[in-house]
Amino acid sequence: MRDVAVIGVGLTKFGELWDKSFRQLTAEAGSKAILDAGIGGKEIDALYVGTMSAGRFVGQEHVGALVADTSGFAFEHIPAIRVESACASGGVAVRQGCLSIASGMNDIVVVGGIEKMNDVGGTSATGTLVTAADQEWEAFFGATFPGIYAMLATRHMYDYGTTREQLAQVAVKNHANGALNPYAQFRKEISIETVLKATTVAYPLGLLDCSPVSDGAASIVLCAAEKAKKYTDKPIKIIGSGQASDTLALHARRDICTLESTVHAAKMAYKQANKTPKDIDVAEVHDCFTIAEICAIEDLGFVKKGEGGKAIDNKITTLDGSLPVNTSGGLKAKGHPVGATGVAQIVEIVQQLKGEAEKRQVPNVRIGLAHNVGGSGASCTVHIMEAM
Ligand code: COA
Repeated sequence: MRDVAVIGVGLTKFGELWDKSFRQLTAEAGSKAILDAGIGGKEIDALYVGTMSAGRFVGQEHVGALVADTSGFAFEHIPAIRVESACASGGVAVRQGCLSIASGMNDIVVVGGIEKMNDVGGTSATGTLVTAADQEWEAFFGATFPGIYAMLATRHMYDYGTTREQLAQVAVKNHANGALNPYAQFRKEISIETVLKATTVAYPLGLLDCSPVSDGAASIVLCAAEKAKKYTDKPIKIIGSGQASDTLALHARRDICTLESTVHAAKMAYKQANKTPKDIDVAEVHDCFTIAEICAIEDLGFVKKGEGGKAIDNKITTLDGSLPVNTSGGLKAKGHPVGATGVAQIVEIVQQLKGEAEKRQVPNVRIGLAHNVGGSGASCTVHIMEAM
């Protein structure tokens, strides 16, 4: 198996992007990544694109071909593959791109992630998102993702004494980081009081405990590591790539507070990278709701199960903490255009490892981790990266 490195990244702003089409967003992120890598179209062996539900959000299927066309590669006849795994579509697309290079089949691939969710309005977006939950056991009975994660939160509070304030603190931290990120949907700091007073969406989660409905795209260029230095002085090697699945419905799990897909994907990635959670200097984790970040830092092994809330209290995960988490603002503040999220997380870690994260830069980072979850944890990817 060959090693794989990231040689270019590109991102659009995330938010309510009424003035940009799905097509324009894919082209913007893709062309930025290709320019960053300094490659020509003829050098690209394949395109992978993660999107959860372009058909329902913008009425467009056949997204692989659309992206090839929009990027100006239709006449190069480059193979283009659409990848879907709900909110983990981007992470799985990255992994598929890595595998195609590791196998020796491809040398250079472009991986994109895209979602344009706002065109359909809030109610319809909620209905589309919940197609990623279990239709027979959850959605049919009226469950939504805020509702599903609210169940997880109340159980975590009951089992481990996690407090409402600790959940709120996750949102406060991620909004503070988002305020430093020019690409973030929300660039304003918030206080604990604002989070606690916000409208309840599904108890205990309020408006500010939720990731928003977002539009946006992200893209990276992957290259066989042995050839990466030809294109950049600072290639970022993907030293571990893990993926796992779990039951679609929450009720069928042994413990709803543990996302076993995260535990298993992380185990696979740590083993391949020959690293432990202690080696990670910076992480982007899947905080679709504040409770999700608390579970993630536990399931990734950064803290013991049940101690996520305490870690937030102790400010371990802030920008100046011992393990900064979601320096981009996370899904909470940067935004969560679902298919783009997993790729955008890699973009942030690459920028951190290259020392290019500007006001969000964590000093002396060497190893970073990106964690992307589909639905309530039925699918998950974990990638570990290191500067070469
Ligand atoms: N965080 C912070 N502010 C938010 C927000 C969020 N998540 N969602 C909306 N807002 C703001 C809007 O910017 C708007 O502000 P303004 O009045 O200053 O313009 C205001 O709140 C109302 O926005 P609106 O779009 O009407 O909110 P809504 O009630 O339709 O939707 C949620 C709010 C939380 C229900 C929606 O964002 C949501 O469903 N989030 C979860 C998405 C999800 O499930 N993703 C998949 C995860 S697995």
